[in-house]
Amino acid sequence: MASDLVQRFAAARTDPALVVLEGFHALKHALRFGAAVDLVAAVDAAALETLAAELAPDLAGTLATVAQPVERELLRALSPQPHHTGVLAIARRPAFALPGAGRDPVVLLEDPRRLGNVGATVRVAAAADAAAVVTTGAVDPWDPAALRGSAGLHFALPVGRLDGAEALADLTRDRPLLALDPGGERLDPSRVGASSVLAFGTERHGLSPELLARADARLRIPMRDGVSSLNLATAVSAVLFACRLAGDRR
Ligand SMILES: C[S@@+](CC[C@H](N)C(=O)[O-])C[C@H]1O[C@@H](n2cnc3c(N)ncnc32)[C@H](O)[C@@H]1O
Repeated sequence: MASDLVQRFAAARTDPALVVLEGFHALKHALRFGAAVDLVAAVDAAALETLAAELAPDLAGTLATVAQPVERELLRALSPQPHHTGVLAIARRPAFALPGAGRDPVVLLEDPRRLGNVGATVRVAAAADAAAVVTTGAVDPWDPAALRGSAGLHFALPVGRLDGAEALADLTRDRPLLALDPGGERLDPSRVGASSVLAFGTERHGLSPELLARADARLRIPMRDGVSSLNLATAVSAVLFACRLAGDRR
């Protein structure tokens, strides 16, 4: 039984059809936004129900019955950094499809390196009702560490990796590409079209010369003199909420 769980979680971490959810909040949001959850392991199923009653009454009464009890020591074998809520789950990874150009912007992270930034971006994009978060580069945006950073909000909007220059061309075919760059023109959120692609660069080097060259505009979030740049996820947050507050979208 214990070795079966160890095997299932280890396999799920490398299976592109599955994702591992670490912690109560990740499980809560995943369930709330329609995830198909295959397995829940919890150190204390009763404590899980108490959390649900306090923080997610919509899920109260549903978790204790499905959770498999695990010793805390076993949880440490299932997760490199066991979450303090003592909960771990396996869910199916939803198929990724680019949304059609519509009323909400798409967030593009070019070659992000830190999974915490990817997760925080997905979290704020879900809160601001962005159409999707797409990434380029090697990092899997559905890595368990990114899911932990988003508190499971990957299930609230399409999240996926663009494969190659063609996919980027497809994404920007009928959407303006706006490059967020500390060296650009001052951002006027009231002029950002709802169907724009908002592109943010990698943590150390910013946007690539190729992406900057193909962008329809380069925009800067104004900052106090002496500050070089904002953290990546913070910059995404500033732009999405400036646009949301400037427009009358929802
Ligand atoms: C940590 S910054 C990268 C800093 C990099 N040295 C540069 O100069 O672009 C990561 C990304 O956040 C966005 N960003 C950060 N501060 C910004 C600002 N003031 N205006 C526009 N974008 C910003 C950009 O997309 C940037 O590529």
